[in-house]
Amino acid sequence: MPTASATTYNNYVNGRWVPSSSGRTFENRNPADTSDLIGVFQQSDAADVDAAIAAAARAYEQWRLVPAPLRAEILFRAAQIIVDRKETFARDMTREMGKVLKETRGDVQEAIDMTYYIAGEGRRMFGQTVPSELRNKFAMSVRQPLGVCSIITPWNFPMAIPSWKIIPALVCGNTVVFKPSSNTPLSALNFVNVLIDAGLPPGVVNMVTGDADVGTAMTTDERVRVVSFTGSTTVGRLVNQASAPTFKKVHLEMGGKNVVMIMDDAQLELAVEGCLWGGFGTTGQRCTAASRVVVHARVYDAFVEEFVKRVRALRVGNGLDEGIQMGPSVSEAQRATVMRYIEIGQQEGARLLTGGRSLSTGAHARGFFVEPTVFGDVDPKMRIAQEEIFGPVVTVMRCHDLDEAVAIGNGVAYGLSASIYTRDVNKAFAAMRDTYTGIFYVNAPTIGAEVHLPFGGTKATGNGHREAGVAALDVFTEWKSIYVDFSGKLQRAQIDTQDL
Ligand code: UN1
Repeated sequence: MPTASATTYNNYVNGRWVPSSSGRTFENRNPADTSDLIGVFQQSDAADVDAAIAAAARAYEQWRLVPAPLRAEILFRAAQIIVDRKETFARDMTREMGKVLKETRGDVQEAIDMTYYIAGEGRRMFGQTVPSELRNKFAMSVRQPLGVCSIITPWNFPMAIPSWKIIPALVCGNTVVFKPSSNTPLSALNFVNVLIDAGLPPGVVNMVTGDADVGTAMTTDERVRVVSFTGSTTVGRLVNQASAPTFKKVHLEMGGKNVVMIMDDAQLELAVEGCLWGGFGTTGQRCTAASRVVVHARVYDAFVEEFVKRVRALRVGNGLDEGIQMGPSVSEAQRATVMRYIEIGQQEGARLLTGGRSLSTGAHARGFFVEPTVFGDVDPKMRIAQEEIFGPVVTVMRCHDLDEAVAIGNGVAYGLSASIYTRDVNKAFAAMRDTYTGIFYVNAPTIGAEVHLPFGGTKATGNGHREAGVAALDVFTEWKSIYVDFSGKLQRAQIDTQDL
Protein backbone atom coordinates (compact mmCIF):
# COMPACT_ATOMS: atom_id res chain seq x y z
CA MET A 1 0.00 0.00 0.00
CA PRO A 2 2.05 2.89 -1.31
CA THR A 3 0.43 5.61 0.80
CA ALA A 4 3.41 7.93 1.16
CA SER A 5 4.65 7.59 -2.41
CA ALA A 6 1.33 7.82 -4.27
CA THR A 7 1.72 9.31 -7.73
CA THR A 8 0.18 12.65 -8.61
CA TYR A 9 -1.51 12.56 -12.00
CA ASN A 10 -2.20 15.57 -14.23
CA ASN A 11 -4.81 16.68 -16.73
CA TYR A 12 -4.16 16.07 -20.40
CA VAL A 13 -4.60 19.23 -22.45
CA ASN A 14 -3.38 19.99 -25.96
CA GLY A 15 -1.09 16.97 -26.00
CA ARG A 16 0.57 17.68 -22.64
CA TRP A 17 0.14 16.48 -19.07
CA VAL A 18 -0.46 19.61 -17.01
CA PRO A 19 -1.53 20.36 -13.43
CA SER A 20 -4.75 22.24 -12.76
CA SER A 21 -4.46 26.00 -12.44
CA SER A 22 -6.50 25.64 -9.24
CA GLY A 23 -3.51 24.14 -7.44
CA ARG A 24 -5.95 21.70 -5.80
CA THR A 25 -5.98 17.91 -5.94
CA PHE A 26 -8.05 14.97 -4.65
CA GLU A 27 -7.23 11.45 -3.54
CA ASN A 28 -8.36 8.26 -5.20
CA ARG A 29 -8.68 5.39 -2.70
CA ASN A 30 -9.63 1.74 -2.94
CA PRO A 31 -13.25 1.27 -1.77
CA ALA A 32 -12.43 -2.26 -0.56
CA ASP A 33 -9.56 -0.94 1.58
CA THR A 34 -9.40 2.79 2.17
CA SER A 35 -5.82 2.59 3.47
CA ASP A 36 -4.82 1.90 -0.13
CA LEU A 37 -4.19 5.27 -1.79
CA ILE A 38 -4.17 4.76 -5.55
CA GLY A 39 -3.16 8.22 -6.65
CA VAL A 40 -3.69 11.94 -6.40
CA PHE A 41 -5.58 13.70 -9.21
CA GLN A 42 -6.29 17.29 -10.26
CA GLN A 43 -9.29 19.09 -8.78
CA SER A 44 -9.74 21.23 -11.85
CA ASP A 45 -11.64 24.45 -12.38
CA ALA A 46 -13.26 26.45 -15.19
CA ALA A 47 -9.89 27.81 -16.39
CA ASP A 48 -8.64 24.25 -17.06
CA VAL A 49 -11.80 23.48 -19.01
CA ASP A 50 -11.40 26.69 -20.99
CA ALA A 51 -7.89 25.64 -22.05
CA ALA A 52 -9.09 22.14 -22.94
CA ILE A 53 -11.99 23.44 -25.04
CA ALA A 54 -9.68 25.89 -26.80
CA ALA A 55 -7.29 23.03 -27.64
CA ALA A 56 -10.14 20.82 -28.84
CA ALA A 57 -11.59 23.63 -30.97
CA ARG A 58 -8.21 24.24 -32.62
CA ALA A 59 -7.55 20.55 -33.19
CA TYR A 60 -10.99 20.13 -34.74
CA GLU A 61 -10.05 22.28 -37.73
CA GLN A 62 -7.49 19.65 -38.79
CA TRP A 63 -9.01 16.45 -37.39
CA ARG A 64 -12.30 16.91 -39.24
CA LEU A 65 -10.34 16.86 -42.52
CA VAL A 66 -8.47 13.61 -41.81
CA PRO A 67 -10.21 10.96 -43.93
CA ALA A 68 -12.43 8.80 -41.72
CA PRO A 69 -10.62 5.53 -42.70
CA LEU A 70 -7.36 7.10 -41.46
CA ARG A 71 -8.97 8.27 -38.23
CA ALA A 72 -10.19 4.72 -37.85
CA GLU A 73 -6.70 3.28 -38.31
CA ILE A 74 -5.60 5.07 -35.15
CA LEU A 75 -8.62 3.63 -33.36
CA PHE A 76 -7.88 0.08 -34.57
CA ARG A 77 -4.40 0.50 -33.10
CA ALA A 78 -5.97 1.73 -29.86
CA ALA A 79 -8.14 -1.39 -29.66
CA GLN A 80 -5.08 -3.62 -29.99
CA ILE A 81 -3.23 -1.68 -27.28
CA ILE A 82 -6.17 -2.21 -24.90
CA VAL A 83 -6.00 -5.94 -25.69
CA ASP A 84 -2.31 -5.93 -24.75
CA ARG A 85 -2.93 -4.07 -21.47
CA LYS A 86 -6.21 -5.75 -20.52
CA GLU A 87 -5.05 -7.45 -17.34
CA THR A 88 -3.32 -4.37 -15.90
CA PHE A 89 -6.30 -2.19 -16.71
CA ALA A 90 -8.70 -4.68 -15.08
CA ARG A 91 -6.61 -4.77 -11.89
CA ASP A 92 -6.35 -0.99 -11.73
CA MET A 93 -10.10 -0.78 -12.19
CA THR A 94 -10.96 -3.29 -9.46
CA ARG A 95 -8.62 -1.45 -7.14
CA GLU A 96 -10.22 1.92 -7.75
CA MET A 97 -13.92 1.05 -7.91
CA GLY A 98 -14.30 -2.39 -6.35
CA LYS A 99 -16.07 -4.70 -8.79
CA VAL A 100 -14.55 -8.17 -9.04
CA LEU A 101 -11.74 -8.93 -11.46
CA LYS A 102 -13.90 -11.06 -13.77
CA GLU A 103 -16.18 -8.08 -14.21
CA THR A 104 -13.45 -5.50 -14.71
CA ARG A 105 -11.96 -7.77 -17.38
CA GLY A 106 -15.41 -7.68 -18.96
CA ASP A 107 -15.47 -3.89 -18.72
CA VAL A 108 -12.13 -3.61 -20.52
CA GLN A 109 -13.34 -6.18 -23.07
CA GLU A 110 -16.39 -4.03 -23.74
CA ALA A 111 -14.04 -1.11 -24.52
CA ILE A 112 -12.08 -3.37 -26.88
CA ASP A 113 -15.27 -4.54 -28.60
CA MET A 114 -16.58 -1.00 -28.96
CA THR A 115 -13.32 0.36 -30.28
CA TYR A 116 -12.97 -2.36 -32.93
CA TYR A 117 -16.62 -2.12 -33.88
CA ILE A 118 -16.79 1.66 -34.20
CA ALA A 119 -13.38 1.90 -35.90
CA GLY A 120 -15.00 -0.18 -38.65
CA GLU A 121 -17.41 2.70 -39.20
CA GLY A 122 -14.49 4.69 -40.58
CA ARG A 123 -15.06 2.79 -43.83
CA ARG A 124 -18.86 2.88 -43.69
CA MET A 125 -20.59 5.85 -42.08
CA PHE A 126 -23.24 5.46 -44.73
CA GLY A 127 -25.41 8.29 -45.94
CA GLN A 128 -28.19 8.07 -48.50
CA THR A 129 -28.28 8.74 -52.20
CA VAL A 130 -31.78 9.24 -53.53
CA PRO A 131 -33.22 10.12 -56.92
CA SER A 132 -34.05 13.77 -57.48
CA GLU A 133 -37.54 14.76 -58.60
CA LEU A 134 -35.89 16.85 -61.34
CA ARG A 135 -33.84 15.88 -64.39
CA ASN A 136 -30.06 16.24 -64.28
CA LYS A 137 -29.97 16.73 -60.56
CA PHE A 138 -28.27 14.58 -57.95
CA ALA A 139 -29.37 14.21 -54.28
CA MET A 140 -27.56 12.71 -51.29
CA SER A 141 -27.04 13.06 -47.56
CA VAL A 142 -23.74 12.85 -45.69
CA ARG A 143 -22.83 12.70 -42.01
CA GLN A 144 -20.83 15.67 -40.75
CA PRO A 145 -19.01 16.05 -37.43
CA LEU A 146 -20.20 18.75 -35.06
CA GLY A 147 -17.05 19.99 -33.35
CA VAL A 148 -16.04 19.87 -29.69
CA CYS A 149 -17.80 17.18 -27.62
CA SER A 150 -18.01 17.22 -23.82
CA ILE A 151 -17.92 13.65 -22.53
CA ILE A 152 -18.97 13.12 -18.90
CA THR A 153 -18.78 9.55 -17.61
CA PRO A 154 -19.64 7.57 -14.44
CA TRP A 155 -17.58 5.22 -12.29
CA ASN A 156 -19.47 1.96 -12.70
CA PHE A 157 -18.09 1.18 -16.18
CA PRO A 158 -14.91 3.27 -16.04
CA MET A 159 -13.46 2.19 -19.38
CA ALA A 160 -16.43 0.78 -21.29
CA ILE A 161 -18.59 3.90 -21.07
CA PRO A 162 -15.82 6.36 -22.04
CA SER A 163 -15.18 4.12 -25.07
CA TRP A 164 -18.89 4.17 -26.00
CA LYS A 165 -18.70 7.94 -26.29
CA ILE A 166 -15.14 8.92 -27.18
CA ILE A 167 -14.54 6.38 -29.95
CA PRO A 168 -17.65 7.27 -31.99
CA ALA A 169 -17.00 10.98 -31.41
CA LEU A 170 -13.51 10.58 -32.86
CA VAL A 171 -14.29 8.35 -35.82
CA CYS A 172 -16.89 10.88 -36.91
CA GLY A 173 -14.28 13.67 -36.89
CA ASN A 174 -15.10 15.47 -33.63
CA THR A 175 -12.70 16.41 -30.86
CA VAL A 176 -13.22 15.71 -27.17
CA VAL A 177 -13.01 17.17 -23.68
CA PHE A 178 -13.41 14.28 -21.25
CA LYS A 179 -14.34 14.45 -17.57
CA PRO A 180 -14.36 11.05 -15.85
CA SER A 181 -15.94 10.40 -12.45
CA SER A 182 -13.66 11.34 -9.57
CA ASN A 183 -14.07 7.77 -8.29
CA THR A 184 -12.32 6.31 -11.35
CA PRO A 185 -9.76 8.73 -12.77
CA LEU A 186 -7.05 6.08 -13.14
CA SER A 187 -9.06 3.98 -15.60
CA ALA A 188 -9.80 7.16 -17.54
CA LEU A 189 -6.11 8.01 -17.61
CA ASN A 190 -5.29 4.49 -18.79
CA PHE A 191 -7.75 4.93 -21.63
CA VAL A 192 -6.35 8.32 -22.64
CA ASN A 193 -2.83 6.88 -22.63
CA VAL A 194 -4.00 4.23 -25.09
CA LEU A 195 -5.26 6.91 -27.46
CA ILE A 196 -2.00 8.84 -27.17
CA ASP A 197 0.06 5.72 -27.83
CA ALA A 198 -2.13 4.86 -30.81
CA GLY A 199 -1.08 8.16 -32.38
CA LEU A 200 -3.93 10.60 -31.81
CA PRO A 201 -2.76 14.17 -32.61
CA PRO A 202 -2.50 16.73 -29.76
CA GLY A 203 -5.73 18.46 -28.78
CA VAL A 204 -8.03 15.83 -30.30
CA VAL A 205 -8.72 14.31 -26.87
CA ASN A 206 -8.28 16.29 -23.66
CA MET A 207 -8.96 15.03 -20.14
CA VAL A 208 -9.83 17.27 -17.20
CA THR A 209 -10.51 15.63 -13.83
CA GLY A 210 -12.64 17.20 -11.12
CA ASP A 211 -16.22 17.72 -10.01
CA ALA A 212 -19.19 19.99 -10.63
CA ASP A 213 -17.14 23.09 -11.58
CA VAL A 214 -15.65 21.14 -14.45
CA GLY A 215 -19.01 19.73 -15.54
CA THR A 216 -20.66 23.14 -15.47
CA ALA A 217 -17.96 24.71 -17.63
CA MET A 218 -18.16 21.80 -20.07
CA THR A 219 -21.92 22.17 -20.49
CA THR A 220 -22.22 25.96 -20.68
CA ASP A 221 -19.34 26.90 -23.01
CA GLU A 222 -20.71 27.85 -26.40
CA ARG A 223 -17.78 26.31 -28.31
CA VAL A 224 -19.03 22.87 -27.21
CA ARG A 225 -21.53 21.42 -29.70
CA VAL A 226 -22.30 18.00 -28.19
CA VAL A 227 -22.64 16.84 -24.60
CA SER A 228 -22.78 13.12 -23.88
CA PHE A 229 -23.50 12.28 -20.25
CA THR A 230 -24.05 9.06 -18.33
CA GLY A 231 -25.00 9.35 -14.66
CA SER A 232 -27.92 10.03 -12.36
CA THR A 233 -31.23 11.48 -13.54
CA THR A 234 -30.80 14.40 -11.14
CA VAL A 235 -27.46 15.43 -12.62
CA GLY A 236 -28.65 14.62 -16.16
CA ARG A 237 -31.45 17.15 -15.78
CA LEU A 238 -28.90 19.81 -14.73
CA VAL A 239 -26.70 18.93 -17.70
CA ASN A 240 -29.68 19.30 -20.02
CA GLN A 241 -30.64 22.67 -18.56
CA ALA A 242 -27.08 24.01 -18.60
CA SER A 243 -26.69 22.97 -22.26
CA ALA A 244 -30.02 24.31 -23.49
CA PRO A 245 -29.31 28.06 -23.92
CA THR A 246 -26.53 27.34 -26.43
CA PHE A 247 -28.55 24.65 -28.27
CA LYS A 248 -26.08 21.85 -27.88
CA LYS A 249 -26.93 18.35 -28.92
CA VAL A 250 -27.34 16.56 -25.59
CA HIS A 251 -27.24 12.81 -25.14
CA LEU A 252 -28.31 11.64 -21.68
CA GLU A 253 -28.12 8.13 -20.29
CA MET A 254 -29.48 8.11 -16.74
CA GLY A 255 -31.16 5.98 -14.09
CA GLY A 256 -32.95 2.66 -14.22
CA LYS A 257 -35.29 0.52 -12.15
CA ASN A 258 -35.31 -2.58 -14.27
CA VAL A 259 -37.70 -5.46 -13.95
CA VAL A 260 -37.36 -9.22 -14.33
CA MET A 261 -40.78 -10.86 -14.87
CA ILE A 262 -40.92 -14.54 -13.95
CA MET A 263 -43.92 -16.42 -15.29
CA ASP A 264 -45.29 -19.65 -13.84
CA ASP A 265 -43.90 -21.70 -16.73
CA ALA A 266 -40.35 -20.32 -16.33
CA GLN A 267 -37.30 -22.48 -15.77
CA LEU A 268 -36.94 -21.43 -12.16
CA GLU A 269 -33.29 -22.38 -11.74
CA LEU A 270 -32.41 -20.27 -14.78
CA ALA A 271 -34.42 -17.35 -13.40
CA VAL A 272 -32.67 -17.60 -10.02
CA GLU A 273 -29.27 -17.54 -11.72
CA GLY A 274 -30.32 -14.55 -13.82
CA CYS A 275 -31.61 -12.58 -10.84
CA LEU A 276 -28.42 -13.26 -8.88
CA TRP A 277 -26.23 -11.99 -11.70
CA GLY A 278 -28.57 -9.14 -12.68
CA GLY A 279 -29.20 -8.01 -9.11
CA PHE A 280 -25.81 -8.36 -7.48
CA GLY A 281 -23.32 -8.17 -10.36
CA THR A 282 -21.31 -4.93 -10.04
CA THR A 283 -22.74 -4.81 -6.47
CA GLY A 284 -26.05 -3.75 -8.05
CA GLN A 285 -24.37 -0.58 -9.33
CA ARG A 286 -25.47 -0.80 -12.95
CA CYS A 287 -28.12 1.35 -14.54
CA THR A 288 -29.28 -1.95 -16.06
CA ALA A 289 -29.35 -3.79 -12.68
CA ALA A 290 -32.25 -6.21 -12.11
CA SER A 291 -33.43 -4.36 -9.03
CA ARG A 292 -37.09 -5.48 -9.31
CA VAL A 293 -38.29 -9.05 -9.66
CA VAL A 294 -41.98 -9.73 -10.31
CA VAL A 295 -42.89 -13.38 -9.78
CA HIS A 296 -46.08 -15.22 -10.67
CA ALA A 297 -47.91 -16.12 -7.43
CA ARG A 298 -47.88 -19.83 -8.32
CA VAL A 299 -44.07 -19.99 -8.24
CA TYR A 300 -43.36 -17.10 -5.86
CA ASP A 301 -42.53 -19.21 -2.78
CA ALA A 302 -40.35 -21.66 -4.69
CA PHE A 303 -38.45 -18.84 -6.37
CA VAL A 304 -37.94 -16.84 -3.18
CA GLU A 305 -36.73 -19.85 -1.23
CA GLU A 306 -34.05 -20.75 -3.76
CA PHE A 307 -33.10 -17.14 -4.54
CA VAL A 308 -32.56 -16.20 -0.88
CA LYS A 309 -30.50 -19.36 -0.33
CA ARG A 310 -28.22 -18.42 -3.22
CA VAL A 311 -27.96 -14.76 -2.16
CA ARG A 312 -26.89 -15.79 1.36
CA ALA A 313 -24.08 -17.86 -0.14
CA LEU A 314 -22.57 -14.95 -2.13
CA ARG A 315 -18.99 -14.24 -1.06
CA VAL A 316 -18.48 -10.51 -0.46
CA GLY A 317 -15.01 -8.97 -0.28
CA ASN A 318 -12.08 -7.44 -2.12
CA GLY A 319 -12.63 -8.00 -5.82
CA LEU A 320 -8.94 -8.71 -6.36
CA ASP A 321 -9.22 -11.85 -4.21
CA GLU A 322 -9.92 -15.15 -5.91
CA GLY A 323 -13.39 -16.52 -5.26
CA ILE A 324 -15.01 -13.22 -4.26
CA GLN A 325 -18.34 -12.73 -6.03
CA MET A 326 -19.36 -9.24 -4.93
CA GLY A 327 -17.25 -6.18 -4.08
CA PRO A 328 -18.00 -3.07 -2.01
CA SER A 329 -20.10 -0.02 -2.76
CA VAL A 330 -17.97 2.50 -4.59
CA SER A 331 -17.86 5.10 -1.79
CA GLU A 332 -18.97 5.92 1.71
CA ALA A 333 -21.72 8.14 0.27
CA GLN A 334 -23.00 5.33 -1.95
CA ARG A 335 -23.07 2.91 0.95
CA ALA A 336 -24.94 5.49 3.05
CA THR A 337 -27.57 5.76 0.29
CA VAL A 338 -27.97 1.98 0.19
CA MET A 339 -28.33 1.79 4.00
CA ARG A 340 -30.91 4.57 3.94
CA TYR A 341 -33.02 2.69 1.39
CA ILE A 342 -32.77 -0.50 3.44
CA GLU A 343 -34.20 1.45 6.37
CA ILE A 344 -36.91 2.97 4.19
CA GLY A 345 -37.90 -0.50 2.94
CA GLN A 346 -38.35 -1.76 6.48
CA GLN A 347 -40.36 1.31 7.46
CA GLU A 348 -42.57 0.83 4.40
CA GLY A 349 -43.42 -2.67 5.59
CA ALA A 350 -41.48 -4.76 3.06
CA ARG A 351 -40.16 -8.05 4.41
CA LEU A 352 -36.38 -8.20 4.75
CA LEU A 353 -35.60 -11.73 3.56
CA THR A 354 -31.83 -11.58 3.81
CA GLY A 355 -29.03 -9.04 4.23
CA GLY A 356 -29.72 -5.50 5.35
CA ARG A 357 -26.54 -4.75 7.26
CA SER A 358 -23.29 -3.09 6.39
CA LEU A 359 -20.21 -5.29 6.84
CA SER A 360 -17.49 -3.59 8.81
CA THR A 361 -15.46 -6.15 10.70
CA GLY A 362 -12.57 -8.47 9.82
CA ALA A 363 -11.78 -8.54 6.11
CA HIS A 364 -14.49 -5.93 5.57
CA ALA A 365 -13.27 -3.43 8.16
CA ARG A 366 -11.65 -0.97 5.80
CA GLY A 367 -14.13 -0.98 2.90
CA PHE A 368 -17.67 0.12 2.07
CA PHE A 369 -19.30 -3.31 2.15
CA VAL A 370 -23.01 -4.09 2.42
CA GLU A 371 -24.66 -7.50 2.64
CA PRO A 372 -26.52 -8.57 -0.48
CA THR A 373 -30.10 -7.74 0.45
CA VAL A 374 -33.48 -9.05 -0.67
CA PHE A 375 -36.88 -7.62 0.23
CA GLY A 376 -40.00 -9.75 -0.27
CA ASP A 377 -43.74 -8.92 -0.18
CA VAL A 378 -42.91 -5.60 -1.76
CA ASP A 379 -45.73 -3.36 -2.92
CA PRO A 380 -44.93 -1.88 -6.36
CA LYS A 381 -45.71 1.59 -5.02
CA MET A 382 -43.10 1.47 -2.26
CA ARG A 383 -40.10 3.76 -2.66
CA ILE A 384 -37.71 0.78 -2.69
CA ALA A 385 -39.63 -0.48 -5.75
CA GLN A 386 -39.76 2.92 -7.45
CA GLU A 387 -36.45 4.68 -6.86
CA GLU A 388 -33.01 3.74 -8.13
CA ILE A 389 -30.88 2.52 -5.20
CA PHE A 390 -27.67 1.65 -7.09
CA GLY A 391 -26.61 -1.01 -4.63
CA PRO A 392 -27.05 -4.70 -3.76
CA VAL A 393 -30.76 -4.53 -2.97
CA VAL A 394 -33.40 -6.55 -4.87
CA THR A 395 -37.14 -6.09 -4.35
CA VAL A 396 -39.42 -9.07 -5.02
CA MET A 397 -43.11 -8.65 -5.86
CA ARG A 398 -46.04 -10.93 -6.72
CA CYS A 399 -48.15 -10.90 -9.88
CA HIS A 400 -51.05 -13.06 -11.09
CA ASP A 401 -50.65 -12.87 -14.86
CA LEU A 402 -48.57 -11.35 -17.62
CA ASP A 403 -50.65 -8.16 -17.87
CA GLU A 404 -50.13 -7.41 -14.20
CA ALA A 405 -46.40 -8.10 -14.50
CA VAL A 406 -46.10 -5.73 -17.46
CA ALA A 407 -48.13 -3.05 -15.64
CA ILE A 408 -45.80 -3.31 -12.64
CA GLY A 409 -42.81 -3.34 -14.98
CA ASN A 410 -43.93 -0.16 -16.70
CA GLY A 411 -45.08 1.48 -13.47
CA VAL A 412 -41.88 3.38 -12.69
CA ALA A 413 -40.32 6.63 -13.84
CA TYR A 414 -37.51 4.85 -15.71
CA GLY A 415 -37.41 2.75 -18.87
CA LEU A 416 -34.00 1.23 -19.53
CA SER A 417 -34.15 -2.56 -19.51
CA ALA A 418 -36.65 -5.35 -18.77
CA SER A 419 -36.72 -9.12 -18.99
CA ILE A 420 -39.10 -12.06 -18.97
CA TYR A 421 -38.54 -15.67 -18.02
CA THR A 422 -41.08 -17.90 -19.74
CA ARG A 423 -41.20 -20.89 -22.08
CA ASP A 424 -44.25 -19.47 -23.83
CA VAL A 425 -43.28 -17.70 -27.03
CA ASN A 426 -46.60 -15.82 -27.12
CA LYS A 427 -46.00 -14.32 -23.69
CA ALA A 428 -42.41 -13.46 -24.58
CA PHE A 429 -43.38 -11.52 -27.70
CA ALA A 430 -46.35 -9.77 -26.05
CA ALA A 431 -44.10 -8.63 -23.18
CA MET A 432 -41.42 -7.51 -25.63
CA ARG A 433 -43.97 -5.33 -27.41
CA ASP A 434 -45.72 -3.91 -24.34
CA THR A 435 -42.78 -3.15 -22.06
CA TYR A 436 -41.79 0.48 -22.55
CA THR A 437 -38.01 0.21 -22.29
CA GLY A 438 -35.03 0.64 -24.61
CA ILE A 439 -33.72 -2.89 -24.01
CA PHE A 440 -35.56 -6.19 -23.52
CA TYR A 441 -34.36 -9.71 -22.74
CA VAL A 442 -36.03 -13.11 -22.98
CA ASN A 443 -34.79 -15.78 -20.56
CA ALA A 444 -31.84 -13.64 -19.52
CA PRO A 445 -31.40 -10.92 -16.90
CA THR A 446 -31.65 -7.17 -17.57
CA ILE A 447 -27.87 -6.71 -17.90
CA GLY A 448 -25.51 -7.79 -20.63
CA ALA A 449 -25.99 -5.44 -23.57
CA GLU A 450 -23.59 -5.96 -26.49
CA VAL A 451 -21.82 -3.09 -28.23
CA HIS A 452 -23.28 -3.47 -31.71
CA LEU A 453 -26.90 -2.77 -30.78
CA PRO A 454 -28.28 0.58 -29.58
CA PHE A 455 -28.12 1.12 -25.81
CA GLY A 456 -30.40 3.49 -23.92
CA GLY A 457 -33.81 3.95 -22.41
CA THR A 458 -37.12 5.78 -22.29
CA LYS A 459 -38.78 8.22 -19.87
CA ALA A 460 -36.44 9.37 -17.05
CA THR A 461 -33.67 7.10 -18.37
CA GLY A 462 -32.90 9.02 -21.54
CA ASN A 463 -33.80 11.87 -23.87
CA GLY A 464 -34.36 9.95 -27.07
CA HIS A 465 -30.80 9.23 -28.13
CA ARG A 466 -28.97 5.91 -28.10
CA GLU A 467 -25.33 5.06 -27.79
CA ALA A 468 -23.54 1.95 -29.11
CA GLY A 469 -24.54 0.35 -32.39
CA VAL A 470 -24.77 2.57 -35.46
CA ALA A 471 -27.11 4.74 -33.39
CA ALA A 472 -23.97 6.15 -31.76
CA LEU A 473 -23.15 7.90 -35.03
CA ASP A 474 -26.41 9.83 -34.78
CA VAL A 475 -25.22 11.48 -31.55
CA PHE A 476 -21.86 12.53 -32.98
CA THR A 477 -22.83 13.61 -36.49
CA GLU A 478 -25.46 15.72 -38.10
CA TRP A 479 -26.91 15.25 -41.52
CA LYS A 480 -26.17 17.49 -44.43
CA SER A 481 -28.39 17.09 -47.48
CA ILE A 482 -26.72 17.95 -50.75
CA TYR A 483 -28.28 18.71 -54.14
CA VAL A 484 -26.15 19.00 -57.26
CA ASP A 485 -27.93 20.43 -60.27
CA PHE A 486 -26.08 19.65 -63.50
CA SER A 487 -28.83 20.82 -65.90
CA GLY A 488 -27.29 24.24 -66.47
CA LYS A 489 -30.60 26.01 -65.89
CA LEU A 490 -32.81 27.04 -63.01
CA GLN A 491 -35.02 24.13 -61.95
CA ARG A 492 -37.57 24.87 -59.28
CA ALA A 493 -38.34 22.04 -56.85
CA GLN A 494 -42.02 21.14 -56.55
CA ILE A 495 -42.84 23.41 -59.52
CA ASP A 496 -40.85 22.40 -62.62
CA THR A 497 -41.63 18.73 -62.21
CA GLN A 498 -44.21 18.11 -64.93
CA ASP A 499 -42.04 17.09 -67.93
CA LEU A 500 -41.65 13.33 -68.26
C1 UN1 B 1 -24.52 0.56 -17.06
O1 UN1 B 1 -25.20 -0.11 -16.33
O2 UN1 B 1 -24.28 1.76 -16.76
O3 UN1 B 1 -25.59 -4.14 -20.34
C2 UN1 B 1 -23.94 0.05 -18.31
C3 UN1 B 1 -24.83 -4.01 -19.38
C4 UN1 B 1 -23.44 -3.51 -19.61
C5 UN1 B 1 -23.41 -2.02 -19.58
C6 UN1 B 1 -24.07 -1.44 -18.38
N1 UN1 B 1 -22.95 -4.00 -20.88
O4 UN1 B 1 -25.18 -4.29 -18.24
